[in-house]
Amino acid sequence: MRALEERIRREGLILSDTVLKVDSFLNHQVDTALALEIGQEFKRIFAGKPITKVLTIEASGIQFAMATGIALDVPFIYAKKKKAVTLAEQVYTAPVHSFTRQETYQVSISQKYLGPDDNVLIVDDFLATGAALVGLVNIVRESGATLSGVGCVIEKGFQEGRGLLEEMGVEVHSLARITKMSPGEIHFAEADSPAAIKEKV
Ligand code: G4P
Repeated sequence: MRALEERIRREGLILSDTVLKVDSFLNHQVDTALALEIGQEFKRIFAGKPITKVLTIEASGIQFAMATGIALDVPFIYAKKKKAVTLAEQVYTAPVHSFTRQETYQVSISQKYLGPDDNVLIVDDFLATGAALVGLVNIVRESGATLSGVGCVIEKGFQEGRGLLEEMGVEVHSLARITKMSPGEIHFAEADSPAAIKEKV
């Protein structure tokens, strides 16, 4: 998605060879018009699939799952990382190991909102190690729903997430696929020419 790649080049801060900060427009302050365009793009990519629910994980996937739900005119669900007291009913759970926080937590979704009649599109902001997304795929499978695929806004293609999901037989699409980055430069999968990103660290 050209507009997204350009925005990453302009405003993204590459903190290291593996960490990209995009919190001025994607996952802290959110550019709402861009988020809605992202929803439309996922609708275009997954056109023809009879999607009934969009699924994500809190927190930073929520705005893109909502935009995609609006584009497809279906509800979205977000998996919770902590079980709230109000979530008293039966839940699907999956363990997710967070490499950034070095801890394993249980994600949960009420069984009321996902079942064999559903066709699910999973959406998230980053595809990195794939830990959270693999957990969501396992929950969709446990529920008996059909999985149409996974859509990620930014993929760090040099990490193992895509490989893990594809090994599970999951169709994966991302809107900006980074093949390589380091402070000062970033390469995307399609227009793979180096471009300077201003370092503002
Ligand atoms: P994933 O590939 O399935 O997303 O799992 P992974 O365990 O690799 O990612 C852990 C968390 O770190 C995720 O957010 C993910 O969105 C975020 N993340 C991974 N790489 C980057 C990066 O380069 N930049 C930024 N800004 N975030 C990154 P999370 O822990 O679920 O937190 P949140 O959604 O509550 O913000």
